Amino acid sequence: GRNGDLKGRTIVVSAGGTAEPIDPVRVITNHSSGKMGYAVAEAARDRGARVVLVSAAKGLPNPPLVDVVPVSTAQQMCDAVLARTEDADALIMAAAVADYRPLSAADQKIKKTDDDLSIALAKTVDILATARGDFVRVGFAAESENLVENARAKVASKSLDLIAANDITSEGSGFGTDTNRVTLIDRDMNIDELPLLTKYEVGNRILDRVVQMFRA
Ligand code: PMT
Repeated sequence: GRNGDLKGRTIVVSAGGTAEPIDPVRVITNHSSGKMGYAVAEAARDRGARVVLVSAAKGLPNPPLVDVVPVSTAQQMCDAVLARTEDADALIMAAAVADYRPLSAADQKIKKTDDDLSIALAKTVDILATARGDFVRVGFAAESENLVENARAKVASKSLDLIAANDITSEGSGFGTDTNRVTLIDRDMNIDELPLLTKYEVGNRILDRVVQMFRA
């Protein structure tokens, strides 16, 4: 059973969409609510793990008995994840991290003058690619097409142990919902297509696989 099977383990989970400042009042962000990551954190806590939740989510209550580290930008999330995975057994990245940020945030609010405005963007740090160590590494992938193909490429390029790929075009799945439909793909490229489940149960299915990897 799942009861207490993560006792003695430390699991770092990321959640929410990062916000990259354009100026003091504006950000570039995405539709992640944080619900998926919070559900993973709660499921891991309920199985006895010590859970660190690095969260860029806004407006979700802190789950009891979870160590919440609030962050905003991709760089802040990266710093927190690197610090907290030093003694971790697993990292589960459910956050939607911005791939690009404004090259430099303006010190003052940008005034409305010209009809067009361009903002130069710079690539953000790839947290999963940077956070390497002696712990199980799980990613998520939100895809709008070629789900399995794109997710497999991410398993390989980030050398992940497991990825949960969600088709964000599928009903009841992806951003903001309490349910999700994911396909799990492991480092051996085994595919497990899960039905529509609550995000909490998706979290448990991922943790079942993590427990198996701890035992292997
Ligand atoms: O928060 P919710 O509203 O509940 O929605 C859940 C979700 C759709 C956000 C979640 O299930 C999900 O799919 N998260 C991953 C979103 C995504 O698009 O990931 P990606 O394909 O850009 O990145 C792949 C993996 O690399 C992810 O684990 C991501 O956290 C990680 N990543 C991405 C970019 C970056 N710079 N560093 C990273 O570590």
